[in-house]
Amino acid sequence: MQSVNSFDLVIFGGTGDLAMRKLLPALYYRHCAGQLPEDGRIIAAGRGAMDREGYLGFLDEKSRRHLRQAEFNESQWRAFSERIDYVKVDASNADDFRVLAERLGHDEQRVRAFYLSTSPDFFAEICQQLHAVDLVTPKARVVLEKPLGRDLASSSSINEAVGAVFAEHQIYRIDHYLGKEPVQNLMALRFGNALFEPLWNSNRIRDVQITVAEQIGVEERGEFYERTGALRDMVQNHIVQLLCIVAMEPPISIDPDIVRDEKLKVLRALRPFTPEDVVSRTVRGQYRAGAVNGQPVVGYLQEQGIDPSSHTETYVAIKAEIGTWRWASVPFYLRTGKRLQERVTEVVVNFRPVPHSIFPSASRASTPNRLVIRLQPDEGMELHLLAKEPGDQMNLKPVHLNLDFSESFKTRQLEAYERLLMDVLRGNLTLFVRRDELDAAWRWVEPIMAAWQKSGEPPKTYTSGTWGPAAASALINRDARSWPEEG
Ligand code: BG6
Repeated sequence: MQSVNSFDLVIFGGTGDLAMRKLLPALYYRHCAGQLPEDGRIIAAGRGAMDREGYLGFLDEKSRRHLRQAEFNESQWRAFSERIDYVKVDASNADDFRVLAERLGHDEQRVRAFYLSTSPDFFAEICQQLHAVDLVTPKARVVLEKPLGRDLASSSSINEAVGAVFAEHQIYRIDHYLGKEPVQNLMALRFGNALFEPLWNSNRIRDVQITVAEQIGVEERGEFYERTGALRDMVQNHIVQLLCIVAMEPPISIDPDIVRDEKLKVLRALRPFTPEDVVSRTVRGQYRAGAVNGQPVVGYLQEQGIDPSSHTETYVAIKAEIGTWRWASVPFYLRTGKRLQERVTEVVVNFRPVPHSIFPSASRASTPNRLVIRLQPDEGMELHLLAKEPGDQMNLKPVHLNLDFSESFKTRQLEAYERLLMDVLRGNLTLFVRRDELDAAWRWVEPIMAAWQKSGEPPKTYTSGTWGPAAASALINRDARSWPEEG
C-alpha cells in the first residue's frame, strides 16, 4: 500500500448524495487502512450555512449508514472525523472562496485536490474562483465527476473553462468503473497472460456482449436522471470504457498516456451511426411497473420528479462495430438498463465454432466456446467448453471452467472510489479519462441522441424485473445470436 503525502481534499457538493454514499465512506476506509497521513485534511464545501459540528452531525446521520457494518469502528470514526472540516461555499460568492483560501493556508508544497461533485453547470465558475484566490498551485488538481455536459459542445465548453485554469495533467475526470478491481483485472487477464492474445481477434471471436444490468430504479435522482438518461449516464462513459479495455491493442506499458492513447484509438475506430443505423442498431427502453426480487415497483413515469410524458430512456441496447483489422466484422452488443431482472455486469466473448465438426449434429457439437468475464456482483471468469458426456455414446455436453476471484484471493476488495481518490492524491492519471477520449465518446453517441430526439418516438417499454424490451432481443436475434440469458 503506497502512502500518500500531506494533502487537503476539498469536496464541493460536500453534503450531496455522492459525498455521503461514496466519497466519505471511501476516505474512512483508507483512514482505517492507515493510508492517510496524520495531517491529511478533508474539507467539505457546501451551500448550506453550517458549522463544523453541524456537518459532523450531518455526516453521522447521512453517511455512516453507507459504511459496511463489519468495517465500522466507533473510535476510528471519531478519529476520522478529526480530519474533517466544513466551509460554506457558494460558487458565485468570491468572499466564500477567500474564506476557503484562508482555511487552506498557503503551503505550496501541500497537495490540494478539489473534487467537483456538484452539477457540471458550476464547474467553470468554481475553477475561476479557485484561480482568483490563488489556490491553483502547481500541486493542485481538480477532479470532475461525470457526466461532463450533455453533449460534445457543452462538454467542450466545460473542458475549455477548466483547462483555462488547470493544465490537463492536473485534471482528473472520474469514471468510477475504471476504479473497479474487476475492470483492472480485465487488463491483467488480457495483458498478463499469453493465452488470450492469439485468439483475441475476428478470426477467432464471433461477437462480444457487454451487459451492465441494474435492479435499482432511478431512486431519489429523478430530476438528474430525467435530464440524463441511460445513454449519457452509462453508455457514453462506463460501457464505452469497458469496451475500450476489451478491444484495445496491447499498450507498450502501463504509463497513463500510453494506455489512454490505446483506448482513444478504439474510440476513434468506432463506426459512426447514420440515422438509419440508429433505427436498426439501437434500442431504447423505459421501465414500467413490475416486480424486482418479488417486490412490486412503480414504473419510471410514476417515479418522483419525472415528467409523466417523459421519453427519457432507462435502457439502451446497441450493436457497435469497430473498424480495425483486429475487429472487422465482429459485432459488439452493448446493453444497460435499470430495473432489470438481475444485477450483473459482464463481458461475454463468443468464439467462432470449430471450422469442421467430426461429431454428429445431434451431439450438440456446434455449441461454440464462450468466455464470460463477470465483474459484478461476484468477480469471476467462466470458460464454456465441450466435453464428452460419460456413457457409451459420443455425446458432447457443455461444461464450465469456473474461476471465482474472491475465492482465489481472500482479501478485501477496495471500492472504486477508494482507489481513485488515492490515485488523485498520489497523482496517478492512468484510471482517469483524458479530454480527447471524452470528446471521442461524445462524438460517437451524439448521432444516436440526435436521431432519437428527431424521431419523437417514445422508448419501448419493458416490465420491471425482466431483461428489457423485446426489441433488444430482436436486435441480436436478427444476427442469429442471443443474449446470455436466452441460452
Ligand atoms: C453511476 C450512474 O455512474 O453508476 C448510476 O450515475 C448507476 O445511475 C451507477 O446506478 C452504477 O454503478 P455501480 O458501481 O453500482 O455499477
